[in-house]
Amino acid sequence: MLVSGIHYRTVWLAGETVKMIEQNQLPFSFQIHDCPDYRATCGAIQTMVVRGAGAIGSAAGYAMAQAFLAGDDAALAKTAIEATRPTARNLFYAVERVFAAGLAGGAGLAVAEAEKIADEDCAACQAIGEYGAALLPENCRLATHCNAGWLAFTDYGSALAPVYVAARQGKNPFVYADETRPRGQGARLTAWELYGEGIAHAIIADNACAFLMARGQIDLMIVGADRVAANGDAANKIGTLEKALAARYFGVPFYVAAPTSTVDAACPSGDAIPIEERDPVEVLYQSGPDENGVMRTIRVASPSSTASNPAFDVTPAALITGIITEKGIFKPENIGQALLP
Ligand code: MRU
Repeated sequence: MLVSGIHYRTVWLAGETVKMIEQNQLPFSFQIHDCPDYRATCGAIQTMVVRGAGAIGSAAGYAMAQAFLAGDDAALAKTAIEATRPTARNLFYAVERVFAAGLAGGAGLAVAEAEKIADEDCAACQAIGEYGAALLPENCRLATHCNAGWLAFTDYGSALAPVYVAARQGKNPFVYADETRPRGQGARLTAWELYGEGIAHAIIADNACAFLMARGQIDLMIVGADRVAANGDAANKIGTLEKALAARYFGVPFYVAAPTSTVDAACPSGDAIPIEERDPVEVLYQSGPDENGVMRTIRVASPSSTASNPAFDVTPAALITGIITEKGIFKPENIGQALLP
């Protein structure tokens, strides 16, 4: 996507350095973060400098390639990369492929495989955009949760890709972006992306979505996914499940958009998806610029309390209208068909 007229991917390899857009600084400052070795790339995934299933998949693939390039112990590196974040299937998908390529053909093949995965991620998201745009009537009002735009992938996005295509088709979509507590990916990242693309939108408090559905102000909802189980259950950012429940109650179509690299055929149902627990600090404190533009972190919760911070939840297949993939739109129970050659 274009940022100030320049095309960026969220993450790329330059020599032996993994470069990425620093997402913790967005939307207040646009910076590029350098990771000179796989350990630094692991740190960037863990601290969410890069985040979103497709983007951390590409970053993890590059990290695995970095280990081969540097002559590091590849098995040790694989274990370290896989320990960064547990939920997104794309991370494991990429590491497994690059590890196998590196073992078979050394650093050159590992790099080629990592680049291939990043390119495939872009192509898959472009196709998701085309399939998904067909679901959007003119002037539709769509809700989304978290950020499954181009920042969450190598480029283009999953849940937002159909919006971008529909806008180019002149359909004039309007997006309600859930703010997505505690890390604010909707308020910070989705809103920034939509503004950059010239898409009309409003940030809404996380607890406003059901009310807007009740008033008939949302025509459909599209969210991303971090892992889709073989039965069509889908893990996505915490808060997704309650939106899906509200959508079912109010008869709002609820779609998941995800490339097939997010589908885990070995995972029978959502119960088996590992759910990341993050630091309670993310719930208890918030950061942002003060009136002088200086970044501040302030406590927003009672000083004597701690917090629980599950980062994802699982939406049962029964609540999902369809899963938009690069191979077409599937009923959740038929998602296995998307993995067939
Ligand atoms: O914790 P994050 O920001 O990496 O989580 C990302 C999400 O859960 C998004 O909702 C997205 O839909 C899935 S990643 C494309």
